[in-house]
Amino acid sequence: MKKILILPGDGIGPEIVAEAVKVLDRLKADGLSVELEQGLVGGSAYDAKGHPLPEDTLAQAREADAILLGAVGGPQYESLDRPLRPEQGLLGLRGELKLFSNLRPAILYPQLAEASTLKTEVVSGLDIMIVRELTGGIYFGQPRGVRTLDNGEKEGFNTLVYRESEIERIGRSAFEIAQKRGKRLCSVDKANVLEVTELWRQVMLRLASDYPDVELSHMYVDNAAMQLVRAPKQFDVMVTTNLFGDILSDAAAMLTGSIGMLPSASLDADGKGMYEPIHGSAPDIAGQGVANPLATILSVAMMLRYSFGQSEPAERIEAAVGKVLDQGLRTPDIAAEGQASVGSAEMGDAVVAVL
Ligand code: NAI
Ligand code: MG
Repeated sequence: MKKILILPGDGIGPEIVAEAVKVLDRLKADGLSVELEQGLVGGSAYDAKGHPLPEDTLAQAREADAILLGAVGGPQYESLDRPLRPEQGLLGLRGELKLFSNLRPAILYPQLAEASTLKTEVVSGLDIMIVRELTGGIYFGQPRGVRTLDNGEKEGFNTLVYRESEIERIGRSAFEIAQKRGKRLCSVDKANVLEVTELWRQVMLRLASDYPDVELSHMYVDNAAMQLVRAPKQFDVMVTTNLFGDILSDAAAMLTGSIGMLPSASLDADGKGMYEPIHGSAPDIAGQGVANPLATILSVAMMLRYSFGQSEPAERIEAAVGKVLDQGLRTPDIAAEGQASVGSAEMGDAVVAVL
C-alpha cells in the first residue's frame, strides 16, 4: 500500500487539493492501492505551529511514498522573517527530501488553443518537458550574501556551483525521460561564458553514449529563450540548471496560456516525489471556489506515472481532463470572453464523473 501525504497549504491550495483527492478516492474505489494522510505546510503551518515546515510534517514527508501539495504563500506572511516565510516550507521539503529533478511539462490542450498569446499554428500540439535541476546551482551555492566593501559600497554575491555528480544525476533523469517520450534531449547552458556550464555540457556529452537512442543537442540559454517563443514545437525534452530552468519553464508554461492547467513533479533518486501545480496560492481568488483544479488533478496523474509506475490510471486521468474540456467545462481562468464558467467543485466532479 503506497502512502500519499496531502499538503493543501495556503490560499486556493485547500480548494484545488480537495478536487484532486476526489479523483484519488475514485481511483481507490477502482482498486488503486493508496492511503492518504493530511499534513500542514506553508503559512497555515506557521499559523498552527509557528513554522512553515513543522517537524511532524517533515517526518510525515519522509514516511510517504509521494506528496501532493497545493500551494503556499500569501500577502499576510510577507512581513515575516525569511526563514519563517511559507516558501521555506517548499524549499525545505525539496532540500530535505533531495528532490533534485523537477519535471515541468508544457502541454497545450487543443480545446484551449485560443488561450495562448501565440499564434495557434505555433503552439497547437505543443508537448514539451522541461527538466530543471532543483537542489543545486546558484540558489544554494556558497558563499552568498551582501557585504560592505572598504569604500562603504555594498556588494551582493551568489555562487553558481555544480559538481559532476550533480550534473550526472539530473542528466540521467532527463535522458531516461527522453527515452520514454520523443527521444530528443536539448541541454541548455551558457557554456560560452560560464565555466560551470562548460562542465555541464561535457557531462551531458559523456552521458549520451549510455543513451544511444536519444538524440542530444545543446543550446545557449539566451537562444533557448528565443527559440521557445519562436518555434517551441522543435523541443521534446529540455534539461537545464536550477536558475535557467526556473525562468525557461515559466516561459514555456505561458506558451499554453493557462497557468491553472500545468502540473509538476519533483523527484529524488529513487522516484519518490512531490507533485504540485506550477501556480501559486492565488490569494486574489482564494475562498471563492473558482480556482482551476485541473493542474492539481494532472499532478496526481504525474504521481501515478513517475512515483508509482502506473501509467494506465495516469492516462485515464489525462483523458478525463481532455473529455471535460471537450464537454465545454471551463473555470474562469480558461474561459473565453463571454463563455459561461464553472467552479472548482463542479470541475472536479466532472472529472470524477468521466472516470
Ligand atoms: P499565482 O500563481 O498564485 O497567481 C497568478 C495569477 O494566476 C493570479 O491572478 C491567480 O488568480 C491566477 N491563478 C493561479 N492559479 C490559478 C488557478 N488554479 N486557477 C485560476 N487562476 C489561477 O502567483 P502570484 O500571484 O505571483 O503569487 C501568489 C502567492 O503564491 C505568493 O505568496 C507567492 O509567493 C505564492 N507562490 C507559491 C508557489 C507555490 O506554492 N509553488 C508558486 C508561485 C507563487
Ligand atoms: Mg518560478
